[in-house]
Amino acid sequence: MSIKNICCLGAGYVGGPTCSVIALKCPEIKVTVADLSKDRIAQWNSEKLPIYEPGLDDVVRKCRGKNLFFSNNIEESILEADLIFISVNTPTKINGNGKGRAADLKYVEGAARIIADVAQNNKIVVEKSTVPVRAAESIANILIANQKPGVTYQILSNPEFLAEGTAVNDLLNADRVLIGGENTEAGREAVEKLCSIYEHWLPRKNIVTMNTWSSELSKLAANAMLAQRISSINSLSAVCEATGADVSEVARAVGLDSRIGSKFLQASVGFGGSCFQKDILNLVYICECLNLPEVAAYWQQVIDMNEYQKHRFTTKIIESCFNTLSGKKICILGFAFKKNTGDTRESPAIHVAKTLLDEGASIKIYDPKVDKEQIDEDLTNPYVCENPENYRKRISIYTDPYTASKDCHAIVVCTEWDEFVDLDYKKIYGNMMKPAYIFDGRKILDHQALINIGYHVQTIGKRL
Ligand code: NAD
Ligand code: UGA
Repeated sequence: MSIKNICCLGAGYVGGPTCSVIALKCPEIKVTVADLSKDRIAQWNSEKLPIYEPGLDDVVRKCRGKNLFFSNNIEESILEADLIFISVNTPTKINGNGKGRAADLKYVEGAARIIADVAQNNKIVVEKSTVPVRAAESIANILIANQKPGVTYQILSNPEFLAEGTAVNDLLNADRVLIGGENTEAGREAVEKLCSIYEHWLPRKNIVTMNTWSSELSKLAANAMLAQRISSINSLSAVCEATGADVSEVARAVGLDSRIGSKFLQASVGFGGSCFQKDILNLVYICECLNLPEVAAYWQQVIDMNEYQKHRFTTKIIESCFNTLSGKKICILGFAFKKNTGDTRESPAIHVAKTLLDEGASIKIYDPKVDKEQIDEDLTNPYVCENPENYRKRISIYTDPYTASKDCHAIVVCTEWDEFVDLDYKKIYGNMMKPAYIFDGRKILDHQALINIGYHVQTIGKRL
């Protein structure tokens, strides 16, 4: 029997877009995205979705209420479903064993326990969340230990490779879909059923099947290797600044080698986002547990280089401004971790803002898609600051870049939003304190044009 009803536990950045695209491409399948959070589900059912993703509004509008539903009724969604995606968050543990490195599987475990409690017929359970290698075994143990008579489970690994800001396009045109399953008759049958969903819009050659543990590890490996490229080019950006080489020219030259390729060689203030750091830390922890300290140290260096890059950038700002920011106003353009998303998780802008605030600056922030409440939460939570009021009185958030930069001593570009390229920098210069500085942490501006206006300009990986 083919799949007629899908449920997804977790209506986040992955569950929401992935299931919306499945609903779009499989009109005969009922898809329900279920979440514990009442607010999140209310937003998915409203005109303003909880996440900003280009193209997502259209997909949701076409399917919602027809074969796509967002619900807090987790039990009912599980009961009805033939196939259940677990797409819950897997953050880094903040307490206990593996604190600061291991993935916290409490939400995955919670999801598995609800499935075990509720299910009354056979289910295919699909691990969509990014998990440590062999996590499917833990899910299986929970399900089997609580199995009711007549109910069987197949656990599949089906990691997600979408990037935020391009999620809909990435899902519609995926380079590959990975499906890991058991090499038994029932396992192969479950893998085929999941393949048939993706085959509604992707060619079979793009759907790769393999053993469960390879599939789980491939996801961590892909993120680790993408982040490694960014840390590699960022490390070279420091060499460029010290020697007079230009990191964009170096990246172009290196990337033209077809064995290396040109993607993910954009030097920056450092990578952010909810996954690169978390997944590499998870990989490091797994290697340590497997008694592979050399491998752990190798991947840890990717994170260390990212920290170094963020630190190097903020040090440059402070040193350029006569080594004191006390009483100065600094404008931060962009707070999201990359363009075309409102997500700020692990955004380098948080590090930049915190460092400037600790140096005594007042900061004026503009981002086209990040809400004021989100910025306030990011900069005043206990992991970032001890005295929220001391920070709050020096943070202001604006809805346009011209007001945000008025009377500032410096502008710091933290996110590569397209609109920042075309701002009227002459007008902005006229309203800034002098000397006026621009620190381009994304290498998107026309530096020579800015110098001609009168700015002092600094960027990554190039002496100006
Ligand atoms: P998210 O925090 O945006 O969403 C997770 C959702 O799961 C939350 O809304 C939470 O309320 C819900 N949840 C937790 N426990 C639940 C339960 N028992 N039942 C129902 N809902 C529950 O997370 P995300 O960014 O969508 O990431 C989800 C997973 O996908 C993570 O493992 C992540 O590493 C992985 N991933 C993320 C991305 C990305 O771009 N964000 C890309 C690929 C993979
Ligand atoms: C990343 C991966 O690209 C996805 O394949 C993966 O599914 C996802 O993580 C995940 O597992 O969560 P994402 O973090 O959404 O996606 O965005 P990326 O485009 O990878 O950017 C991550 C960070 O690296 C951003 O801060 C970005 O600005 C930075 N970056 C990216 C660079 O500094 N230089 C580059 O060349 C590319």
